[in-house]
Amino acid sequence: MATVPEGLPAPEPAWAADTAPAPAAPGATSPAEGPPAAEPPAPPGALAAGETILLVDERLRRYTVHLRPGATFHFHRGYFAHDDLIGAPEGTAITSSRGAVLIALRPTLAQYVLEMPRRTQIIYPKDLALILLWADIFPGARVFESGIGSGALTLALLRAAGPTGHVVTYEQRAEFIAQARRNIERFHGPAPNLSVHERDVYEGIAEGHFDRLVLDVPEPWQVVEAAAAALRPGGIVLSYSPTIIQAQRTAETLRAQGDFALVDTVETLLRPWHIVGQSVRPVHRMVAHTGFIITARRLAGRLPPRFAAAAQADLPSETSSIDGV
Ligand SMILES: C[S@@+](CC[C@H](N)C(=O)[O-])C[C@H]1O[C@@H](n2cnc3c(N)ncnc32)[C@H](O)[C@@H]1O
Repeated sequence: MATVPEGLPAPEPAWAADTAPAPAAPGATSPAEGPPAAEPPAPPGALAAGETILLVDERLRRYTVHLRPGATFHFHRGYFAHDDLIGAPEGTAITSSRGAVLIALRPTLAQYVLEMPRRTQIIYPKDLALILLWADIFPGARVFESGIGSGALTLALLRAAGPTGHVVTYEQRAEFIAQARRNIERFHGPAPNLSVHERDVYEGIAEGHFDRLVLDVPEPWQVVEAAAAALRPGGIVLSYSPTIIQAQRTAETLRAQGDFALVDTVETLLRPWHIVGQSVRPVHRMVAHTGFIITARRLAGRLPPRFAAAAQADLPSETSSIDGV
């Protein structure tokens, strides 16, 4: 019987069938009949039992499958045994019982967050990509995050901070923490350097000396005072908000608070292109507005009034955003 995990976000059928172990093939040997022939060694990096993989069919529909020995993958174009992929190299093309071809790959983080079960809005890959560089998340960084949502941003932060980094997350809803933990575990594996606290970030941040502080909460301006206390001098606060009303209030609060400078607001519009033969054009649909990204730097002390007035105008940081300097 096929199972479809909850919270399916993709327009295409994405989570595919895992079924009970298939019956033994006629003529299969049992242990009583003698030892099985030695298996050839799996190629390096081969797909393994227990992994979550992505199958892509000829129409680019995606199916996420958890590989289990003895299980069968079923979809509308037939079936095949998971065992046919376990031990095969990543990138293998497999043919179903009805002749459909599927490519088996490990999902990238960008693919995974779009397919994983979610109970909240997530930050989309185009923004995750920008956030990692705009917040300058580096290996070994000590990062504070709130809230965890479905864990998309947490996964990106964990990977960029690496095993020597530490991510501390405040999330006020226990059920979101549970789902996010499942999503994180499934892609990242155990994350001993992730500390999740069921807490209201508007009530303050207990820990300190963070290098980076990343917010995806409805009222980030309520966290500005606590962010100033929790960040080390030179640290970066980054806030992601879907509406310009939220972004405006956050930027104004960061400027007025006094411990931050170089308050910068950007959004990213990602336009894919269709390039096939003579048909070279932007695709008709694109993910345009998703949210605004605000960054600011934590100062070591208060700015002299002259510099403070210039920084209010936002000119230096906006210019540097455009030039990439
Ligand atoms: C849009 S979701 C975050 C999505 C997440 N960044 C992701 O990519 O999956 C916003 C989250 O913030 C949490 N949240 C809202 N207000 C909060 C607060 N005051 N303290 C802690 N978490 C809060 C919500 O419960 C929700 O899980």
